[in-house]
Amino acid sequence: MKVFKTKKELKTYFEEFRSENSKIGFVPTMGALHKGHLSLLEKSIENNDITIASIFVNPTQFNKKEDLENYPRTLESDLSLLESISCDVVFIPSVNEIYTNTVSSVHFNFDGLETQMEGKYREGHFNGVGTIVKKLFEIILPTNAYFGEKDFQQLQIIRKMVEKTALDVTVVCCATHREASGLAMSSRNARLTSEEKEAATIIYQTLHEVKKKINHLPLTDINKWVASKFIQQPLFTLEYFTIAEEETLKSTTKILPKKNYRAFIAVYAREIRLIDTISLNS
Ligand code: PAJ
Repeated sequence: MKVFKTKKELKTYFEEFRSENSKIGFVPTMGALHKGHLSLLEKSIENNDITIASIFVNPTQFNKKEDLENYPRTLESDLSLLESISCDVVFIPSVNEIYTNTVSSVHFNFDGLETQMEGKYREGHFNGVGTIVKKLFEIILPTNAYFGEKDFQQLQIIRKMVEKTALDVTVVCCATHREASGLAMSSRNARLTSEEKEAATIIYQTLHEVKKKINHLPLTDINKWVASKFIQQPLFTLEYFTIAEEETLKSTTKILPKKNYRAFIAVYAREIRLIDTISLNS
């Protein structure tokens, strides 16, 4: 497995592959790798000639300093996990390598996708995500790039960015990898106590129940039911629960035929923020 820290080394290495017209699969990550990340990488390895992962805790997408500081960093075990699944290349740039002198985001217009949910509660977050993913796409020029369904809003935003720029990248959606309990795997789970981790099953259980209720209860009643479930338990605070249409991500009060909908949720355990989503159609 090749490990590169600079754009220059990486570009030189890839020039050879590009001239041979090979398929390059790319999985951007912020490290603290778990089986969810590995499932994206395995898909890439299966469908491309060469697979590259990046590990970069991107400062511009964190709206809270403490969240950035407390983000788990486990480079050594990340590298051995990547090695164990035969990932070909890893890019681990420094902040300076990516942002040179100014650590700031570009302002994007994602046609309103950025003002919903995560965008509402984490100001500037998607400008940070758009900035780093665009930079990485421009350095790596991947054929296919893999993103998790767990961060569905992020996935739609990346699709919009690709649509609006001249980048020739196919964005591939990968199913959410869950613990046996249903809890979506996340780097942030490592910060939960064992009691919180056990209680965190309420997140997916709630989404699962919502899916069962969707055709039997008005959405206003579903919203109230979710809010009351979280009021009744002490470890998690509900930040938002929304049922939204997949394409616009706009919150809806009515399910219309021929459109796809999802439930989205964000909760806090102390200062640890977890998100999840479920498709309400399939
Ligand atoms: P990170 O949270 O490390 O996630 C990297 C990729 O793994 C994302 O596409 C995310 O959706 C996916 N992922 C995370 N948990 C998953 C799970 N349980 N099942 C399937 N996929 C999962 O998302 C980011 O990093 C950053 O915003 C990034 C895109 C790298 C830009 O900095």
